[in-house]
Amino acid sequence: MRFLPSAGILLLASYAAAQPPRLDVPYVPSPNAVVDGMLKLAKVTSSDVVFDLGCGDGRIVISAAKDYGSKGVGVDINPDRVQEARANAKKAGVEDRVRFEENDLFKADIRNATVVTLYLLPDVNMRLRPKLLHDLKPGTRVVSHSFDMDDWKPDEEAVIDGRHIYLWTVPAKK
Ligand SMILES: C[S@@+](CC[C@H](N)C(=O)[O-])C[C@H]1O[C@@H](n2cnc3c(N)ncnc32)[C@H](O)[C@@H]1O
Repeated sequence: MRFLPSAGILLLASYAAAQPPRLDVPYVPSPNAVVDGMLKLAKVTSSDVVFDLGCGDGRIVISAAKDYGSKGVGVDINPDRVQEARANAKKAGVEDRVRFEENDLFKADIRNATVVTLYLLPDVNMRLRPKLLHDLKPGTRVVSHSFDMDDWKPDEEAVIDGRHIYLWTVPAKK
């Protein structure tokens, strides 16, 4: 007997497909001065691979590629943001050095990163911390706009236009 999905199942499937992705953090872009400050604090160079987890319109990895010649990967769960980021990379002429991935930041493969940037929320930073410490190579720099990592004390801090930014270095594995 052939399986014919009921109208109810089809309706539910199309409803689920039309739902916006569940965001752990709303979209609020970092001001350009803060983006510059984050890249300077991490001492980004052309040898770096910069990952922005929750990349929004892609501005952090695009600036890193444009200003420092680094490679970059932006991860965002919202397909509209990913599309916007790809268009912005093209406009900035850096689409050969950056890529944008529609993915949940908790599921992304971040092992190639040498710098990770974050503008999330305190509880999201804390949920992400074990993944950062497990997946990233020792020496990888992590920069966060606004939110710290509780008892993982930063190596450096700065304040740009009243906003705190924090820098950590992933320690050697125990
Ligand atoms: C505060 S904005 C930061 C944007 C960008 N990093 C910046 O600093 O300009 C947070 C971004 O995280 C994305 N986001 C929220 N939850 C996410 C998740 N679970 N996985 C990936 N991206 C997520 C949102 O769509 C949004 O673009």
